[in-house]
Amino acid sequence: MVFPYSTRRLSSTEVEDILAKLTQELTVTTDRIRTIIKQFNEEMDKGLDHEGATVPMIPSFVTGRPTGKETGRYMALDLGGTNLRVCEFHLEGQGKFSVHQQKYVVSDQLKKGEMRHLCDFIADCVDNFISEHGSDHLDEALQLGFTFSFPVLQTAINRGTLMHWTKGFNCSGAINKDVVVMLQDAFLRKNLNVNIAAIVNDTVGTLMAHTYLHPETTIGVILGTGTNACYYEKATGIKKWKTEKQFDDMVINMEWGAFDNERRVLPLTIYDNKLDRESINPRQQIFEKQISGMYLGEIVRNAMLHLVDQWMLFNGQSSADLNKQWGFETAYMTTIIADNTPALASTEHILQDVLQIETTTLEDRQIVKHICDLVARRAARLSAAGIAAVLSHTGDIDRPSVVAIDGSVYEFLPGFENNMIIALKELFGDSIQNRIKFALAKDGSGFGAAIVAMVAHKAATSS
Ligand code: GLC
Repeated sequence: MVFPYSTRRLSSTEVEDILAKLTQELTVTTDRIRTIIKQFNEEMDKGLDHEGATVPMIPSFVTGRPTGKETGRYMALDLGGTNLRVCEFHLEGQGKFSVHQQKYVVSDQLKKGEMRHLCDFIADCVDNFISEHGSDHLDEALQLGFTFSFPVLQTAINRGTLMHWTKGFNCSGAINKDVVVMLQDAFLRKNLNVNIAAIVNDTVGTLMAHTYLHPETTIGVILGTGTNACYYEKATGIKKWKTEKQFDDMVINMEWGAFDNERRVLPLTIYDNKLDRESINPRQQIFEKQISGMYLGEIVRNAMLHLVDQWMLFNGQSSADLNKQWGFETAYMTTIIADNTPALASTEHILQDVLQIETTTLEDRQIVKHICDLVARRAARLSAAGIAAVLSHTGDIDRPSVVAIDGSVYEFLPGFENNMIIALKELFGDSIQNRIKFALAKDGSGFGAAIVAMVAHKAATSS
């Protein structure tokens, strides 16, 4: 029997047992990944076949690939990650461009307030940007590509209604409304001569931006605050559209974060369930909640607290900071996973100085590092499963192709890409590495939105 506040060091066998149990809980086996891919392919087919499927497979109205020859000045807005970004691109042709950009912080109050206020805030940022960096030809309307990284059911390249919020946004008065109309109205209220020529998901922007320079790119993936992917689908594959299709292929915004909301195949632990239950969107975005930056730290926190409650970590003592929901940031995982010092000094710094846990032993820090490693590795393997499912669906798994990826989880979590490659090799053999390449498409979504705005604007003015 262990009493509160008594100091007790865990024996090495106890530590080994704890590590082994965590490994068992948080590991996705190769067989499980195969099951996930099979289910993923079924869900993709359902989403292409009818409206209302869990993975909605939303047609983006983006057809064809950019050539790199596009020219002109176009603005882009990027909402949906950590910041709002406003940019102006000058496309010079031959794959060349220059950019001015500015980031603005979107407060938590705006994220959860009224949509009208959020739109007014965005309009103010655009206004501020134009006065500071804007073009000189203000007599004609500036054309803007709006990267809005939420599930939007599009009816045209510049029309679409919000299905539901994700990633901690929860503005009232937006669901089932046309987001472009709402933002365009805010521009009108401020007398801004800016026309929203296209609404673009961040995955689609990322794919476009990367294809501009690398035509062999087949998928755009975001592994950041949220997660999602898009790819080119054949016109005949979009079965839910019964009318005649005037294009060969169209980019599909999958909204894969909603995969397995039914909880059939994903390996959910008590830590995931706790996170889901306490989130503002319980039983939604289940895949996203196991992969993306908004959630990984919280899974680690839940696992740590579970051990604290059993006197298996920090001598049974937590801290006010660690007890807070979202108190353990995903960014801490980057430091802890990279910590290879014998005493795990950076881990100690985060636990004791940042999170104010009174004292930690080396064993404590080893356990925490192990949890971070496992949660990150599981996220990488599940991401690989999603990518493998898309590549299998399109047939690109057997051909050379490039997957363009953006987002902090992919960019900053040490070993993330390597863990994805390991999973792909387990599934398809070592030679897969010669065919499928991952490429970081940093901040591509704004640029991609500008390209889509340009194509849309030219099409609208020539018809
Ligand atoms: C969420 C959004 C999706 C976006 C992804 C990455 O899953 O619903 O639209 O692409 O996050 O930002």
